[in-house]
Amino acid sequence: MYVLGIETSCDECSAAIVEDGRNILSNVVATQIELHKPYEGVVPELASRLHTEWIDQVVLAAINQAGITKEDIDAVAVTNRPGLLGSLLVGVNFAKGLAASLDVPFITIDHIRAHLYASQIENPQEYPYLGILVSGGHTVICKVKGYDEVEVMGTTIDDAIGEAFDKVAKHYGLGYPGGVVIDRLSKNGNNKAFLFPGPTINGEGHEYDISYSGLKTAVINQLDKFWDGESEKSQENIAASFQRAAVNVLMKRIRLALKDTGLKRVSAGGGVAANSLLRSELKALEKGGYSVTFPSLKLCTDNGAMIAGLAYRYLQDGVRDDFNVTASARVSAFKKNQ
Ligand code: KG4
Ligand code: ZN
Repeated sequence: MYVLGIETSCDECSAAIVEDGRNILSNVVATQIELHKPYEGVVPELASRLHTEWIDQVVLAAINQAGITKEDIDAVAVTNRPGLLGSLLVGVNFAKGLAASLDVPFITIDHIRAHLYASQIENPQEYPYLGILVSGGHTVICKVKGYDEVEVMGTTIDDAIGEAFDKVAKHYGLGYPGGVVIDRLSKNGNNKAFLFPGPTINGEGHEYDISYSGLKTAVINQLDKFWDGESEKSQENIAASFQRAAVNVLMKRIRLALKDTGLKRVSAGGGVAANSLLRSELKALEKGGYSVTFPSLKLCTDNGAMIAGLAYRYLQDGVRDDFNVTASARVSAFKKNQ
């Protein structure tokens, strides 16, 4: 079964063909990063306009690279939530038109669930496992009981982890997008030059919650307070110290969640799952007997393959959408107690 997956929720225009949910025949990602760079952030109006201009070429490239024809496509899947509404609408309407003209099933996919599912395409992990979703818009620790069954344990109470990376990078003029730049600069930095605080959140029901806004403010406004007084205040040292603090906070919560749930498997996804320190810290859990998986780098950031991969599971269970389903900027799926 060939599923076409389309992803246009933010600034990546992507389409992929995945065979039987596992075999990625193509995964074309046309990034708009360079075009948003002058504004140091994604400009929603520009993003949707570029998706409109690019989408047919991106889908065509995915079909060609997969070595199939459009008539071979068995279903069309598309991200319809959450994200930038204008961008989502481009993908959703294109997908509807294509599915209608090919007379194949149409299915909409939750972007966040797809990030969480991405590692299952390449390295299937048995359920249940502890899911870690870390992206530009979300930071979630959850119990994943099935591809469609997720119990949220903790989330960020303010900024998402990727957002904190991006804002710190923007403040210090390190480059855009921030996560990749900070990751790269950190490799040559002293991560103890600044001992930034790990934010503490107390109270019942917040055991696994995380706050990144305090850390971000400390890095941006109170640098001197946490400086060791000797190391250089270099970009590399700031980046490395911030990255260490950001990852430490998350790892603390992950270790606690593993201990409390007794889960022995962990899987991460989302753009920040591409972070080299987070990957090595997660990998280190294997020494404690845990099984750890995360997607390859291309499947961490936004891509159509994760949409097609997850869609396959729903389609196998007979799930389809009708053409009345539309895009939605916000989700409710990733809130606690739902
Ligand atoms: O999943 P994604 O592509 O889009 C969202 O759904 O948000 O994630 C984008 C986020 C951005 O904040 C970006 O800075 C961050 O992922 N990111 C990274 C790395 N690569 C991307 N953060 C830290 N280290 C990285 N290597
Ligand atoms: Zn994403």
